Formats: sequence, structure tokens, C-alpha cells
Amino acid sequence: MRSEIINQQNPKGAGNLSTQRWSAERYQQTASFVPALGSAVLELLAPAPGERVLDLGCGDGALTERIVAAGALVTAVDAAPDMVAAARQRGVEARLVAGQDLDFVGEFDAVFSNAALHWMRPPERVIAGVYRALKPGGRFVAEMGGHNNIAAIMVALNAVLRGHGLDARRLSPWYFPSAEAYRERLETAGFAVEQIRLIPRPTPVPAGIEAWLDTFADDFLGAVPQAQRAAVRDEVVELLRPVLVDERGTWIADYVRLRFRAFRPR
Ligand SMILES: C[S@@+](CC[C@H](N)C(=O)[O-])C[C@H]1O[C@@H](n2cnc3c(N)ncnc32)[C@H](O)[C@@H]1O
Repeated sequence: MRSEIINQQNPKGAGNLSTQRWSAERYQQTASFVPALGSAVLELLAPAPGERVLDLGCGDGALTERIVAAGALVTAVDAAPDMVAAARQRGVEARLVAGQDLDFVGEFDAVFSNAALHWMRPPERVIAGVYRALKPGGRFVAEMGGHNNIAAIMVALNAVLRGHGLDARRLSPWYFPSAEAYRERLETAGFAVEQIRLIPRPTPVPAGIEAWLDTFADDFLGAVPQAQRAAVRDEVVELLRPVLVDERGTWIADYVRLRFRAFRPR
């Protein structure tokens, strides 16, 4: 299913759309490592029984289920209809809401997010919505792509797309901030930042980088005429092979995560 999300300060230009097509089935086949690697940020959340938690960008609900299992009362939101449907199938109370359009007021003890905030622009609008959604004293605990995340993949996309007259930077839907820049955004919105840091995390991609590109890079490859798309993707793959494949033949993506815990002051 196709989900189109308004990215208001996307380098593509105000009002343009991310063309990422989120399919829960494909996500489960090729990207189950994403929720599986969420244990550290889940530990940082430390959900308690009876707490009200908002999971922002919940995806198919695999990680959300673990917050529910801790006894928290979880509301989950995501902008992709297919992901929301998959989360509901797991019994998660999931709603179709974009991170830019949160309209909760003082309802949650915690807002949690894994691997989703870097898809949501402009960040200040998302952060303001999270702040409003929290009760005074509530916490915002998240992990997202940070500065230099998937740098090799970005360089390869840039190099290959340039050869086809396309500017990958303008096509990119992502926002990968440094710890300093994101701390400043959180503090400007009123948060007290307890901890924030970048974590380089080389990440095995069991399904390979072709599948990774098919799962996450529609904004880039979708701009290439259909007839050339497979060849362009193969060019990107071949540029990346010497740097991202290890000696056993495993693709390892150059992930850098930004993990933080911040509080809405009482
Ligand atoms: C990589 S997945 C992560 C999902 C889940 N948190 C996990 O750990 O598996 C990113 C999710 O962000 C969602 N997303 C992207 N842009 C969004 C937006 N503007 N508002 C809400 N969700 C968004 C996508 O639909 C997708 O489900």
C-alpha cells in the first residue's frame, strides 16, 4: 500500500511528498532487524505497568507489543495505513496519524519512538507535538538515525543518481541530526535533556542491500524512470559492495543512531 506523507521542510521543497511505500509484509521479510535492535532504547524507556505511553511511528507494532507486555497502556500512531493495519492485527491500539499532526494534549507519561523520527519533517513540528502530548514530568525517549547515518549508502546514491541527472540530496526524505543540533531543538521546545548521544552501530542486513534499497529508498529510486530503475539500483549495489560486504559475504550497513531521553519539566 502506498503512503504519501507531507514533508513540509523537505529539501525537495515545501509541500512535497515522501513517496516511500510502506508494506508491512515487506518490512517483516526484509527489516525485522529494526524492531529486533530496539532493546536498548526500550530499556531506556523502562515502561512501568499502568503508564500511558505513545509509540510514535510504531510500524507493524513488533516493538510496541513489548511495551504492552511491560503492562503499559499504549497508544500507537503511524502514517502508513498498511503498518497501522499490521499493528492492529497484533492487538495494538494503533491509529493513522502523522508525527507532524499529533493532537494529544497532556495525556502521556512517555512518548517513545524507534527508527521513525528521521522520516518526520519538519522536526520542530514533531517535537512540539510530542511536548504537548506529554503530562508535565513526562519523558520523551527515542532512537533515530543520527549524523552520518548510512553515509556510504548516501554517497553511493548521490554518485549514481547524479549520473542520471538527479540530486539525491534534494530527493532525500531523511533528517539525521547531530546530538548537539537535536539537543538544541529539544531545549528550544522546552525539554530538559537528560542524555543524548550518537551511537555508531554497524548493522547486518540479512536480506542484503538490494532488499534494503527496495524497502527504504523509494524516494530516490522512484525518481528514476521505471525502465532504468533496476539498472540504477544495481549500480548503487556494486558501488557499495566493496565497503559494506564483510569477508563472509554479509551486508553490514553503516548505521549511526541518535538515542536520547528528555523530560517535559513539571
Ligand atoms: C523504520 S520504520 C520503524 C517502525 C517501528 N518503530 C520499528 O521499530 O519497527 C519507520 C516507520 O515510521 C513511519 N513514518 C514515516 N513517516 C512518518 C510520519 N510522518 N508520521 C508517522 N509515522 C511515520 C513509517 O510508516 C514506518 O512505519
